[in-house]
Amino acid sequence: MVQVVTHPLVQSELTLLRRSDISPKSFRESLRRISIFLLYEFLRNAETSEVEIETPLERTGGHVLNGMTFVSILRAGIPVLDVALDMVPHSISGFVGIKRDENTLSPIVYYVNLPPNMGDTVVLDPMVATAGTVMKTMELVKERGGVPKGVISVICSRYAVRILTEKFPSLDIITAAIDEKLNDKGYIVPGLGDCGDRYYGNIKNQILKIKPACR
Ligand code: PRP
Ligand code: URA
Repeated sequence: MVQVVTHPLVQSELTLLRRSDISPKSFRESLRRISIFLLYEFLRNAETSEVEIETPLERTGGHVLNGMTFVSILRAGIPVLDVALDMVPHSISGFVGIKRDENTLSPIVYYVNLPPNMGDTVVLDPMVATAGTVMKTMELVKERGGVPKGVISVICSRYAVRILTEKFPSLDIITAAIDEKLNDKGYIVPGLGDCGDRYYGNIKNQILKIKPACR
């Protein structure tokens, strides 16, 4: 199932993230906020355990979200993972480092750190363009006995949605937008540019474009 979260809070954050004139600080804050909202939607039907607790007045029952496995794709998936671990603290996490070959856009794996006994696994990556990175990650998860259940992204290309739903029909994909185009460098258009570079402030002319006072 593919779900585009149309909630005004999500769409406002997405619009902020797309703007080229926001500061790195605003970009980081917005990416963390939208990650909270996307996770909230993703976890709507997540499993919980019944617990007994004491309020200041009496004993009562409650529900606590069960832990799960989150796999973050480096680098842009890291902020999403931080939010996920805050929200679902009993979870375990794994990391996959993948870059794209500049010419072919095929995924090149440079780092894998996945836990044993992953079980149901949610892949975190804000940008799903050709879907090569996410599909390679799911392959690595499956090789280690994990079951890819979902992908949480900020923007997916139309192409990525088509290929992912064809190959993994039971996967839950949560996203804030499906963008129609990919350019010849594999960037999502209109997209938001290079998410990792913007989050980590790696854009060469960023310091020139953004006045320091404009936080
Ligand atoms: C981006 C993005 C995905 C990948 C998507 O990462 O975060 O991981 O590209 O591309 P695909 O769907 O075509 O495979 P990038 O390679 O820019 O690495 P970074 O997060 O370190 O910047
Ligand atoms: N990675 C990004 O960060 N942005 C894109 O548009 C495509 C891949």
